[in-house]
Parts: sequence; structure tokens; C-alpha cells
Amino acid sequence: MESVKAMLRLADVNPNDILYDLGAGDGRIVTTAVKDFGARAIGYEIDPIRFLISWLRIIFSGALGRAVVRYKNFYKADLKEATVVTLFLRQHTNERLREKLERELAPGSRVVTYYWTFDKWRPIKVDRRLEVYLYVIGISNYQSSSSSFPPR
Ligand SMILES: C[S@@+](CC[C@H](N)C(=O)[O-])C[C@H]1O[C@@H](n2cnc3c(N)ncnc32)[C@H](O)[C@@H]1O
Repeated sequence: MESVKAMLRLADVNPNDILYDLGAGDGRIVTTAVKDFGARAIGYEIDPIRFLISWLRIIFSGALGRAVVRYKNFYKADLKEATVVTLFLRQHTNERLREKLERELAPGSRVVTYYWTFDKWRPIKVDRRLEVYLYVIGISNYQSSSSSFPPR
């Protein structure tokens, strides 16, 4: 839970946000985003047991109505409404998601990862102790020489 809160704090999650957790697991990120940070949150989970657990957590935490978990492969989800995306997956899964995130997220959207990173993106903020990385679309994915980074 310490890392979950660190992820949401680093991304500065707030009541204006729609957070997407890709691979929602037991639902702890979506429920914490709603209960402690005031956001609305959508999770995608492909494992049926974890999907059910996430719904129990949503119901018993009181996040019902502001948190949802869908039983769906996140590669097939439309991410364009997300203002924040949280990821605790694997390195190769992050890399596989990178182009989809670049294509579907609006500039300024935040992507926050736990432990695993993106080879081709530059983090904007890092919590080194808890291994949490914040990326911002339109800045982190800007390809340039170091002299002209970030873009003006
Ligand atoms: C390490 S858990 C992270 C859980 C949660 N986000 C957290 O940080 O506490 C990763 C989850 O991603 C799910 N997952 C992996 N690939 C997926 C996919 N393509 N679509 C939906 N869920 C997926 C797994 O079933 C697993 O529950």
C-alpha cells in the first residue's frame, strides 16, 4: 500500500482525474485513487479470480459508483479518457503498451509505473526508494538530443 500511495502522490492524482489501472489485480489502486485522492478510476483485469476480488474491494471500501473494474484485456481497452494511467506489469509489457499509450493518451496525461520502466521514455519524477516512475505524455516521449530536452 505504501507504493500504491507513492504512485498516486507522484502523479498528483486529484478529483479531476480519471485514472486507468491496466492490470487492476485486487483493485487496491482503483479504490485508493477514489477513497484517498477523490478521483474516478477504471481498472482492467484479465484474471477472473482477481477480477472478483477487485469487485469485493470496490464494494466493501465504499468506492462503488466511482470505481469500476472491467473483465477485459487492457490491450483492447480504449484509453483516450484517461488522465492518469498506472502500471505494475513487466518491462516487456510496458514496452508493448508504449505505442498504444502514445497514440491514445492526450498530451499532459501522466503514466506512473511501479518497479518497471520504459526504455524509450524519460521519467519526469522518480521515487527511488519505492521505485516509482512518473512519465508525462508529450514530454517523456519527446525524442531529441539532450541539448534540446525538454521541448520549448
Ligand atoms: C502485478 S499485478 C498489479 C496489480 C495492481 N495494478 C497493483 O499494482 O496492485 C498485474 C495484473 O495485471 C493483470 N494483467 C496482465 N496482463 C493483462 C492484460 N492483458 N489485460 C488485463 N489484465 C492483465 C494480471 O492478471 C495481474 O492481476
